[in-house]
Parts: sequence; structure tokens; C-alpha cells
Amino acid sequence: MYNSNKLINIASNANKYIFRAYCTGTPSAASSSSTGGNLRIGDVVPDFSQESSMGNINLYKYLGDSWGILFSHPKDFTPVCTTELGRVAKLKPEFEKRNTKVIALSVDSGESHKEWIKDIQETQNVPSIDYPIIADADKKVANLYGMIHPNAANNMTIRSVYFIGPEKKLRAQITLPASTGRSFVEILRIIDSLQLTDKHKVATPAEWKDGDDCVIIPTISDQEAKGLFPKGWKALKSYLRMTPQPNKK
Ligand code: BEZ
Repeated sequence: MYNSNKLINIASNANKYIFRAYCTGTPSAASSSSTGGNLRIGDVVPDFSQESSMGNINLYKYLGDSWGILFSHPKDFTPVCTTELGRVAKLKPEFEKRNTKVIALSVDSGESHKEWIKDIQETQNVPSIDYPIIADADKKVANLYGMIHPNAANNMTIRSVYFIGPEKKLRAQITLPASTGRSFVEILRIIDSLQLTDKHKVATPAEWKDGDDCVIIPTISDQEAKGLFPKGWKALKSYLRMTPQPNKK
């Protein structure tokens, strides 16, 4: 004799698994690879022209000789993105101090962006969003840069940040899921670190913040360091030489 309750349970569990498999998709070679873009630090970033909240923009022309931060948003009218775009508007002077242009991207139309901007202004108390939001409704840029991770979601981007140097090379990258809002203070800190390395041949240690001691890059000999770091350094090990931040008094 069989237990009919048990059978119902088995059937309903089977349904659950079928539903789960349908929602998440069975991992396959196609679904586990990204849709495009495989940018690595040091690569020249691809140029593009695309519509934006400020009209058509060409990445290279827009950046000129500046540094650039290109950051993707999963969708318009989503809560975390709304807070992020407001935050960037408030921090715009900090980006400008660092000769850095910011460009947001979301896979919706320019018209949608214009409507959404009104909500951002209202809810985040910012008078304007005075930087472009790329209207990437056809996902041209998202695919070019590999901003869509199909095993996370097929129809929207994850939160990517591309740090672009004045020579158009990728200097750093951050990748976060849609549910995690970015720290734009951390993004400014990374720009400071990158620019310090370029100008002063120092690296920045764990938890470094502006004004803290820096690390002399290991490829610089002590002899060369004497000329570069007149304030001197403290050698904790031959490879671990701490020096005051060079561009501070
Ligand atoms: C957001 O931007 O708030 C968001 C978007 C997609 C998933 C989760 C959060």
C-alpha cells in the first residue's frame, strides 16, 4: 500500500526543483561565459559613441586628456542606483579636483533616463545630474565592456566601475552585484592612489587614506629613492620602505 500524502509531497518537491531549474537556468558553456568584453588592467579600453542623457557622446572625445570613471547601473528606476547617482552628483567637485570625468550607464533609453533624473533630483536632494548617463538600451556598450554577467542576470548589467587613465588604458576595475551599492569615497581613494603612483612612484598600503604614509615601489633602488624621496623613508624590511605621502607638506 502506498502513502498518498508522501506521493503528493514528492510531486510538489519535484515541481519546486523544475521551477528552480527554469528560473536559474542549467549552467552550460554558453550561460557561464560573459556576453563580451574581457578587459584586463593595462588594456586600452574600447571607444564607443552612444546616446546619453546629454545627447550623443563619444567616449574618447568626451574624456579628452582627463581620467575617466565609467560605471554601470542595472536599470533605471531602481533604488540602489537612484542613491548612487545622487551621491555622484554631490561628489562631482571631488572628481573634478582629480581631473576625472564621470560617466554613468544604464541599459534604458534617453527618454527613460530624463524621467528618472527627476526622481533622483527629488529624492537625493541634488539640483542636477550634470554628468552623462549613457542610454544603452541596445546594450552595445554593456556587451562591449562585458557589463552583463548572464549567470547573475541576462537583461541588466552588474555594477562595474572602470578606472580609465588619460592614455585610455584600464587602470582598475570594481565588480559588484546589483544589490550592493558602491562606495564613491572608495572610488575617489582609488583614483588618489593611482595618481600618486603615476606622479610619485609610491604605492599605497592597506587601509591607506589621503595623508598617510606610502610605500616606495620595490623596483626603485635605494640610490634612486634618495633623489625621489627627500623626506627619507623607514625601511621595515629591504622591500618594505615607508615614506611620507610625497605631495603633502
Ligand atoms: C537597485 O538598483 O536598487 C537594484 C537593481 C537590481 C537588483 C537589486 C537592486
